[in-house]
Amino acid sequence: MMKPKDIQLRPGRESDLPDVLAIHNHYVLETTVTFEMEEATLENRLEWFGKFDETGPHRILVAVSGDSVLGYAASTPFHERPAYAPSVMTSVYLHPDRTGLGIGEKLYRALLDLLEKTEQAHRAYGLVVIPNPGSERLHEKLGFRDTGLLNEAGYKFDAYHSVRIYERSL
Ligand SMILES: CC(C)(COP(=O)(O)OP(=O)(O)OC[C@H]1O[C@@H](n2cnc3c(N)ncnc32)[C@H](O)[C@@H]1OP(=O)(O)O)[C@@H](O)C(=O)NCCC(=O)NCCS
Repeated sequence: MMKPKDIQLRPGRESDLPDVLAIHNHYVLETTVTFEMEEATLENRLEWFGKFDETGPHRILVAVSGDSVLGYAASTPFHERPAYAPSVMTSVYLHPDRTGLGIGEKLYRALLDLLEKTEQAHRAYGLVVIPNPGSERLHEKLGFRDTGLLNEAGYKFDAYHSVRIYERSL
């Protein structure tokens, strides 16, 4: 079992992107936890990464052990319409071999702590494709409120999937 002192949390860097890409693509191709359907490329992740900042509401944090990325948590614009600017969508993804060890909680809590100190961020929304017991529990544990269900809002792998909306004050 990995000891907590072996794990560091820090803002994501461009050099983390190959590992981030591999984690992302695993969940895109193998699972319904994300509604992304197409494998991303490094170019695509570079463009995505360019939208984060080390101040402001759009952040990316990674959990690392030595040179390898164990997972990442990010806040992105909730919606393109400008009045939604104080709302962010938050998410957290771990390398599939690193789940269930407390890393997701550490990482997501650290992201929320940063956002709480960021004046421009007012609400965080986690959209969880259900069932996802780990993510549902994590959102509840970190103070998100279940504010509703988008019933069969998505279609992936030949089936409809519902999405629970979790909301948290920042
Ligand atoms: C969801 C995820 C980030 C959770 O991180 P994690 O490190 O695995 O979870 P933690 O070990 O920090 O556990 C946090 C809480 O969730 C619970 N939990 C974790 N996995 C669980 C599971 N599979 N079933 C039930 N509860 C679970 C833990 O018991 C803990 O709650 P507790 O303190 O009350 O016991 C991680 O499992 C993951 O990356 N999953 C795949 C990607 C994903 O679904 N991301 C979320 C998209 S919305």
